[in-house]
Amino acid sequence: MIASSKWRSPSNIALIKYWGKYPHQIPANPSISFTLDACYTETELILSEKKSEAQFDFDLWLEGEAKEGFKPKVEQFFRAIVHEAPFLNQYRLEIHTANSFPHSSGIASSASGLSALALCVLSISNLNRSLTKADFYRKASEWARLGSGSASRSVYGGLVNWGRYEDLEGSADAYALPVKAHIHKDFLTYRDFILLVEIGAKGVSSTVGHGLMKGHPYAEARFAQANRHMGHLLRLMQGPNFEEVGYLIEQEALALHAMMMTSDPYFILMRANTVKVIDLIWQFRKNTDIPAYFTLDAGANVHLLCPEAHEQAVQKFVEQELTPYLNQGKYICDRVGQGPVKLK
Ligand code: PMV
Repeated sequence: MIASSKWRSPSNIALIKYWGKYPHQIPANPSISFTLDACYTETELILSEKKSEAQFDFDLWLEGEAKEGFKPKVEQFFRAIVHEAPFLNQYRLEIHTANSFPHSSGIASSASGLSALALCVLSISNLNRSLTKADFYRKASEWARLGSGSASRSVYGGLVNWGRYEDLEGSADAYALPVKAHIHKDFLTYRDFILLVEIGAKGVSSTVGHGLMKGHPYAEARFAQANRHMGHLLRLMQGPNFEEVGYLIEQEALALHAMMMTSDPYFILMRANTVKVIDLIWQFRKNTDIPAYFTLDAGANVHLLCPEAHEQAVQKFVEQELTPYLNQGKYICDRVGQGPVKLK
């Protein structure tokens, strides 16, 4: 072995959604997410003498099992950064990776997986020696973005922005940054019950979905809406304003899925039980006044967000009323997390 590095990096859930991009992974609109805590990927990158003539001599294992299917995305990522990390094509690379969330649980692992890998590559790279801590994470975010857009936000804890938004100082399309604006503390301890409606790979990848925003009849209106929502969210999050923030979060989730349903070709990633769960969440809120609101990523699963103070009541509701609509009754209790951890 010549060198190695190991990182744990979390997944994230967007409140303002990124959907649509320009070449080189430049987002069509800014986004904001919470970094998660319980859902993460641990990745170790090991360098040894190169054995093959291939441009990139590498293999990848997920929980000990060789995963050929993951290699094209990783190779594309290496190709995007090799001019800055030339060691990638000078050595043999072994990538050992494992997820904290159940295999094929329907939780997207690209944000946690690509951010963990970007952090490993940067830790080994010569560049690392000349970077301040802030610059290290900025570069890791930039590289992670080239692997998967949402991965750019996973290199930081708390609330994270990616994409240029004029009222957020320093915000950029090339990398994510933690949100510096004042955020009420109750949002930084938010709970997220991840309700697993569907287990397994989804029908349409987010790469295809982003592509369908090109020429989409509602694209410009959607990008303008996301920009407006950025301002609203940042203002509302200064106070607790749970109801207004929740309303905005649900509006974003439904706008994302509305874009999918109105693409050409159209598609639906929600399932009947996604809609059933949403309906039950709305009834629960009406009956209890507890500010529990949902968001969705590009899939059928539902993220149910609530303030820490209501965690027990919401979990009881999930157990008693929602589990019949979940795959094998499964859900994950998560919360806002602190960001990646270097393990080696
Ligand atoms: O990073 P990608 O290409 O998997 O796209 C993620 C898109 C959403 O999860 C739907 C929204 C987001 O901002 O994370």
